[in-house]
Amino acid sequence: MTGTFITVEGPDGAGKTTQLQLLADRLTAEGYDIVMTREPGGTRIGNEIRSLILNPDFQEMDEMTEILLYAASRAQHVNELIRPALAAGKVVLCDRFIDASIAYQGYGLGYSIEQVRSINQQATNELSPDRTYLFNLSVADSKQRMMDRGALDRIEQRDDAFRQRVYEGFLTLAEQEPERIQLVDATQSIKALHTILCQDALAYLKKRERLS
Ligand SMILES: Nc1ncnc2c1ncn2[C@@H]1O[C@H](COP(=O)(O)OP(=O)(O)OP(=O)(O)O)[C@@H](O)[C@H]1O
Ligand SMILES: [Mg+2]
Repeated sequence: MTGTFITVEGPDGAGKTTQLQLLADRLTAEGYDIVMTREPGGTRIGNEIRSLILNPDFQEMDEMTEILLYAASRAQHVNELIRPALAAGKVVLCDRFIDASIAYQGYGLGYSIEQVRSINQQATNELSPDRTYLFNLSVADSKQRMMDRGALDRIEQRDDAFRQRVYEGFLTLAEQEPERIQLVDATQSIKALHTILCQDALAYLKKRERLS
């Protein structure tokens, strides 16, 4: 049996990492074999690329360099970790994936959505998540949570107009792929969100098992 690839997406500080960890714990308790990972990163090489991308010292980074570095990290991640885990029947929980590149580098920076998508399809050999939870949090709320957390990375330092384009980009993606992308209201409590994600993920995994 092949595994299941689940991702979380959404603005900075929306609660993605918090919920992914809680979901990983619950699915593990239910007996699923879980691999929890993140982007950019997830591998030794990916983590080196992550520090390059996010380092606030590198203000001179060219936008296409940024797009390609995300895609390079993703290629390594998919080939070294994600595909082998899926082939072994595991459930891969990944913090951000291609949707984030389309939202941040496509909609946010103003690059052609098709170009960003195509670069990433090449990088991943067209791997797409089976299910995605998109955390819906306004720019104002996202900023508030980021400020509460302290130092901002290079991408987080971008202005509100950028953040607004990213936010709207994510919502456009959710409209285009309503089957895969589940929109969740990120202003709810951590507990309420956890309940929603667990219910959906368990039902989805059971359905896949029945169909396989
Ligand atoms: N449902 C929630 N309600 C209020 N605060 C929350 C909620 N979920 C997470 N937080 C808080 O918001 C902050 C950001 O959470 P978290 O790191 O999980 O977000 P994230 O989406 O992973 O952010 P990033 O995109 O920067 O990685 C943390 O301080 C966390 O405790
Ligand atoms: Mg996070």
